[in-house]
Amino acid sequence: MGYYFSSSIITIIIFIHINLFLTPFHTQAQGFDPLIRLPHSGSTRTRSKFRRVFPITDFGAKGDGFHNDTKAFLEVWKIACSLSGFVNVIFPYGKNFLVYPIDIGGPCRSKITLRILGTIVAPRNPEAWRGLNKRKWIYFHGVNHLSIDGGGTLDGKGQEWWSRSCKINSTNPCQHAPTAMTFHKCKNLKVRNLMLLNSQQMHMAFTSCMRVVASNLKVLAPASSPNTDGIHISATKGVEVRDSLIRTGDDCISIVRNSSRILIRNISCGPGHGISIGSLGKSKAWEKIQNVNVDGAYLYNTDNGLRIKTWQGGSGFASKITFKNILMYNVSNPIIIDQYYCDSRNPCENQTSAVQVENISFINIKGTSATKEAIKFACSDASPCEGLYLENIFLPSCLGGNTRSYCWQAHGSAQGFMYPSACFSTSSDFIRQNVLLESNPTINSI
Ligand SMILES: *[C@@H]1O[C@H](CO)[C@@H](O)[C@H](O)[C@H]1NC(C)=O
Ligand SMILES: *[C@@H]1O[C@H](CO)[C@@H](O)[C@H](O)[C@H]1NC(C)=O
Ligand SMILES: *[C@@H]1O[C@H](CO)[C@@H](O)[C@H](O)[C@H]1NC(C)=O
Ligand SMILES: *[C@@H]1O[C@H](CO)[C@@H](O)[C@H](O)[C@H]1NC(C)=O
Ligand SMILES: *[C@@H]1O[C@H](CO)[C@@H](O)[C@H](O)[C@H]1NC(C)=O
Ligand SMILES: *[C@@H]1O[C@H](CO)[C@@H](O)[C@H](O)[C@H]1NC(C)=O
Ligand SMILES: *[C@@H]1O[C@H](CO)[C@@H](O)[C@H](O)[C@H]1NC(C)=O
Repeated sequence: MGYYFSSSIITIIIFIHINLFLTPFHTQAQGFDPLIRLPHSGSTRTRSKFRRVFPITDFGAKGDGFHNDTKAFLEVWKIACSLSGFVNVIFPYGKNFLVYPIDIGGPCRSKITLRILGTIVAPRNPEAWRGLNKRKWIYFHGVNHLSIDGGGTLDGKGQEWWSRSCKINSTNPCQHAPTAMTFHKCKNLKVRNLMLLNSQQMHMAFTSCMRVVASNLKVLAPASSPNTDGIHISATKGVEVRDSLIRTGDDCISIVRNSSRILIRNISCGPGHGISIGSLGKSKAWEKIQNVNVDGAYLYNTDNGLRIKTWQGGSGFASKITFKNILMYNVSNPIIIDQYYCDSRNPCENQTSAVQVENISFINIKGTSATKEAIKFACSDASPCEGLYLENIFLPSCLGGNTRSYCWQAHGSAQGFMYPSACFSTSSDFIRQNVLLESNPTINSI
């Protein structure tokens, strides 16, 4: 909790700071030239008094959607990164900047804000990635204190990638497609007020980052687009994702690999595959996901709602995870823990180890289930789920008829009203409270 509290104070301070030092956009075109030519002019104090503003169009970008604007992006970044203090890089409104796969590195002396007012578009043709890393389009690495905002759009033009996916046409070879925006080993990131459209694969990924806030995002791709996760969080500590709308063909938010201190609030998700922790423990990996708090989400027409999935044979922990104040509509598998996850062409053998799933709470979860099994806890024989907790759950069927719970090796307790009723096997480690509370309320009585 300390993290969230201090981060909001920092947000306020930074906000005040930005407003004090913000220079009007129009004055900068003339303003920055002398600064580049005379980088040593003026004391540090006077130079940091105002925010330098660099429109990418002053670096040769055309913004016509045809001309290759990649070089202009690299050049404006190079200048912005070499200065000190606050720097704004502007992608002007009403323009389409065609950007090829690009690698944007730090660390920078400056604190950069990319203000994307217009649109950044990817090349349509996957051949543009020939000889390059097919997992990345816009790749930021080693950058600290970066903000991206502006109300503009990143358009991945993913349609051709999707049609070449083996999930769409099984005669195609399976290959990776780019993540639209990747942030790797970045610290103190703010990404807000942007639209991400039709990414080739994942829309936004944070890998091995620290202190990230992603807010007021709109992430849109067709429900049928393969693997188009909204926001992917991997090996990252201290993330807040809030006030965003995510409609894609895969997980709205996925959390994997040693990530912790994650707060997700006010998310609208669907279509898509819901909010997913995992898959964890693939290929016998050890991983630890801890302190995840999802508070306030609306999930509709999603395959899966709140999910934790682990492969057999892994190890480590998924613990201290709370999902609360969730509204669902027509969600398949609204609440699911699956420790037998197997997304391979060959069936997975049963193994003798598993990622330990422990202290997971589901509180105030309401809405309609598209499947009979509204609650499913398929826990591991090798390492049963412990400390599951359910409170105030109401998940009737979308189609009428009853819903039910499924439990396998699931230990925990329930409180408040429960529909469907909980099905934990009692364990000496946990209070048998749930037995008393399981009075099978009918739908009409709630
Ligand atoms: C676009 O520009 C970048 C940077 O100069 C260059 O590396 C890339 O090859 C160019 N791509 C095409 C298709 O022209
Ligand atoms: C699948 O791909 C093959 C080879 O690329 C192509 O011939 C076939 O028409 C495709 N099928 C569909 C349904 O798109
Ligand atoms: C929740 O997020 C939406 C954007 O998806 C925003 O319009 C709304 O104001 C947010 N609600 C609160 C209470 O912040
Ligand atoms: C998680 O961190 C541990 C060390 O703390 C490391 O051994 C392990 O490989 C990491 N797991 C993954 C999947 O990165
Ligand atoms: C429920 O969601 C599925 C997609 O998962 C969709 O095809 C169906 O039309 C939805 N039904 C209703 C009643 O909204
Ligand atoms: C693996 O374990 C599960 C749960 O005990 C059981 O239902 C399943 O049949 C087992 N599968 C194999 C291949 O032994
Ligand atoms: C789960 O909660 C119990 C009781 O608060 C605590 O003793 C235990 O260490 C927790 N387990 C994990 C893995 O955090």
